[in-house]
Amino acid sequence: MSPEGDIPVKQGRDLLGVSPHTATDSKSGSLSPHPGVGCTVGPSPLGIAAKKLAMPIIPLSRSANLELALFAAGDAIAQVRAGRSLSDVLSVQEPAGLRAAVQDLAYGTLRNLGLLDALLAELLRKPVKPALHALLVCALYQLRARPHTAHTTVDQAVRAVSRLEPAAKGLANAVLRNYLRETEALLARCNAEPAQYSYPQWWIDGVRKAWPQCWESVLNAGNLHPPMTLRVNRRRLTREQYLAKLGEHGIAGQSVGMNAILLERPLPIEAIPGFNAGEVSVQDAGAQLAAPFLDAGPGMRVLDACAAPGGKTGHILELADCTLTALDNDPARAARIRDNLTRLGLDARVVCGDCLSPAAWSDGKPYDRILLDAPCTASGVVKRHPDIKWLRRESDIARLAAIQGRMLDAMWQQLAPDGKLLYATCSVFPDENAQAIASFLARNSAACQLPLAELDCGQLLPDAQHDGFFYALLEKH
Ligand SMILES: C[S@@+](CC[C@H](N)C(=O)[O-])C[C@H]1O[C@@H](n2cnc3c(N)ncnc32)[C@H](O)[C@@H]1O
Repeated sequence: MSPEGDIPVKQGRDLLGVSPHTATDSKSGSLSPHPGVGCTVGPSPLGIAAKKLAMPIIPLSRSANLELALFAAGDAIAQVRAGRSLSDVLSVQEPAGLRAAVQDLAYGTLRNLGLLDALLAELLRKPVKPALHALLVCALYQLRARPHTAHTTVDQAVRAVSRLEPAAKGLANAVLRNYLRETEALLARCNAEPAQYSYPQWWIDGVRKAWPQCWESVLNAGNLHPPMTLRVNRRRLTREQYLAKLGEHGIAGQSVGMNAILLERPLPIEAIPGFNAGEVSVQDAGAQLAAPFLDAGPGMRVLDACAAPGGKTGHILELADCTLTALDNDPARAARIRDNLTRLGLDARVVCGDCLSPAAWSDGKPYDRILLDAPCTASGVVKRHPDIKWLRRESDIARLAAIQGRMLDAMWQQLAPDGKLLYATCSVFPDENAQAIASFLARNSAACQLPLAELDCGQLLPDAQHDGFFYALLEKH
């Protein structure tokens, strides 16, 4: 029996502090393409994988709120484990006033879930219910992220557990206190790769196979806090003018890529100067490559085939006076295209339809340019959506690759002779990217792949400055 009573926990010794990370500092004005061989992804603030946690951005202000925040975050994690996306869960779930704290706990827990699961497995003698397990991993995250408030965290976590499962109060208390006593020894035992990197093993294996020279950097990049990047609307002002405007508001940012600005600190949308007036949009620097690669010109007929919420649609229209059809098969998401274009003062034909069934929405005329930003595993954007690491299954890669192949074939039929189709994903898995394009080229002799400036193999691997994307530009002969 443990000192805390008849509860299924293991015993421990001492506390290991967590080193705060230093934010990666890059002055580079260009995106690094990381073309597979010799690629150098930026250093991870997490140090060696996930064993040290990134410091949270948003502090929890009052311990009184921590109990509720842990309770709500635990519920969110349990729902993600049951298959729901974190953004869906958080949009309806957290109590008013706790939003930032719950988000911080939920995102931080998911970024580090491999390690937290392994720690909890070491601390528990027998399985607990999913809701309790989720609450305990959130509490462990809080202990690791803010070791200086450990005793408050234990107290508040035990209170949160008693709301959920009163009989488990003693268990929670023992688990968390044993973690504090035994941290170093526990961490030493959590040496399997899913704990070290906080990804499922199949994901680690897939990234290592695809990117043997930089797989750890790719994995670590996905566990960083995402930067906030702006796209300057060239129809309104230049990047230099907008940087000056930011300076007037005391906001620090730096140029990255062709037209992007990386903010030193993320801001709420309403605090971004000129956002409502359409001077800028929030868009990752890697995503900002799509519109220039598509190379739409004045008067061209352009199809954005998987367009919602319209990030790339807006960019295409900022760069060219073209006639654009923005298509998406999700009605709620398609409505957001219109909202985004209205804010930017731009116009397009917005259609809710399936790109695999063109007869239902096409006017029969071919397009000069097609952007196919295909649904994918989203394995390149896990720093923004850490739930993806735990929601995806290995079989999703082949399932999505099959859909992507069908979409490529269907969109190719809509492309005019001499027209160009830009295929894009936010994945780092070659089956959805280079291999999908190789298969397409093998079955379409009229297609030829054009080079993309600075992106030899088409793959932009994620780093501290941008997400991971794949691009392939195809021309029809
Ligand atoms: C990667 S997201 C597009 C992001 C968008 N291009 C942007 O930059 O904001 C993929 C989109 O494809 C849509 N989609 C999935 N299957 C589709 C289909 N069969 N036809 C049309 N759109 C589809 C999804 O609803 C989703 O909005």
